[in-house]
Amino acid sequence: MAPEPLTALLSRLSRFKALAAERELANSVLGPLVRKLPFDQELALLLAKFGWHPVEGFTGTLDLAGLKGALQKYKYIKIGQLGSGSYGVVHKAINRETNELLAIKKVVHSVEHGLSDSTIREISTLRELRHDNIVRLKDIIATVNGNHVHLVLEFLDCDLRHYLDTYPVASDVGRIKSVVLQILRGIRHAHANSIMHRDLKPQNVLVGVESGQVKITDFGLARCFLPNEDRAYTERVVTLYYRSPELLLGAQYYTSAVDLWSVGCIMAEMVNFEPLFKSDTEIGLLFRIFEKLGTPTPEAWRELPGLAYFSEQFPRFPPRPLAELVPRLAGDAAGLDLLRRMLVYDPRQRITASQALEHPWFQGVVLPAQ
Ligand SMILES: Nc1ncnc2c1ncn2[C@@H]1O[C@H](COP(=O)(O)OP(=O)(O)O)[C@@H](O)[C@H]1O
Ligand SMILES: [Mg+2]
Repeated sequence: MAPEPLTALLSRLSRFKALAAERELANSVLGPLVRKLPFDQELALLLAKFGWHPVEGFTGTLDLAGLKGALQKYKYIKIGQLGSGSYGVVHKAINRETNELLAIKKVVHSVEHGLSDSTIREISTLRELRHDNIVRLKDIIATVNGNHVHLVLEFLDCDLRHYLDTYPVASDVGRIKSVVLQILRGIRHAHANSIMHRDLKPQNVLVGVESGQVKITDFGLARCFLPNEDRAYTERVVTLYYRSPELLLGAQYYTSAVDLWSVGCIMAEMVNFEPLFKSDTEIGLLFRIFEKLGTPTPEAWRELPGLAYFSEQFPRFPPRPLAELVPRLAGDAAGLDLLRRMLVYDPRQRITASQALEHPWFQGVVLPAQ
């Protein structure tokens, strides 16, 4: 199938290595593609800014990067706001040529440093990370000299936070299994590609209400853009509830096991209709965890005494039976077993995504069609 005219022009523009093209070159290579575009007033104005004349074609040296950015913006029509995230706004949009629904996330990065090599590498990896349970990154719109990029993502109806708060069916145990299973599939795929999420929570899990599809979003970007300190300007409190004990205790080296802790918290929350551990401060959250699971000991977690924020003075709580913490699972031995394995203090002993996917709790769960 031949690409749509705008897509064809954009893809040709991307293959130029230079930032600008001489008039003659621009006209011979791009002219025929421009003439195939379905002109409307907006497009005519846009192209006029880049020296396009309906008869003569490009009338001077062409700013290739500028034109590309402008055409990418023109390609997606914003039709509403989905969320206002920590880095910027997320808009609902539609692809002008295909009518496909999309979400466009504006991401700000620091002006002095621009996008680091590792950021660019991570974004490229995300583009390659194709999986049914990970939101697809379809396009990246970078502004020249700007301090932000736009990530163009596939669209889903809502996030899991909204889903849990709005749809009674979400509390059905069969539905909970399907959601947790799909999150684990997405996480396993990411971990297999050396990407961890680090900020898995209901707001970062998207749900198709009719289809029952679940896809993880806000992926791998936690490290890419502004560090947490710089994010304070948005005045949004970062949700801590799903953060693993090793991160709360200031571990410098952490592993993909941080994500499995978060999955455990999400699973318990779906069962209980409320977050399992809740506090607005890191130390407060640690103590909420200790009260329920018992204060960890160096015998059970060898690295514990070496962690930056560990203290011998921590109050010592005994562990409570898990069935008491998630009463709706009290009669479900497999469910309790899986949850217990995800909420293990020592990251080395915590269950991995691959292991969790083999767990008997998921026996007989049918995944939604893609
Ligand atoms: N692809 C999408 N489809 C539907 N809603 C989305 C999509 N991406 C993000 N959202 C909504 O916007 C919110 C913020 O997006 P997110 O990528 O998590 O940004 P932030 O980094 O600011 O947390 C999400 O919690 C969700 O409600
Ligand atoms: Mg988010």
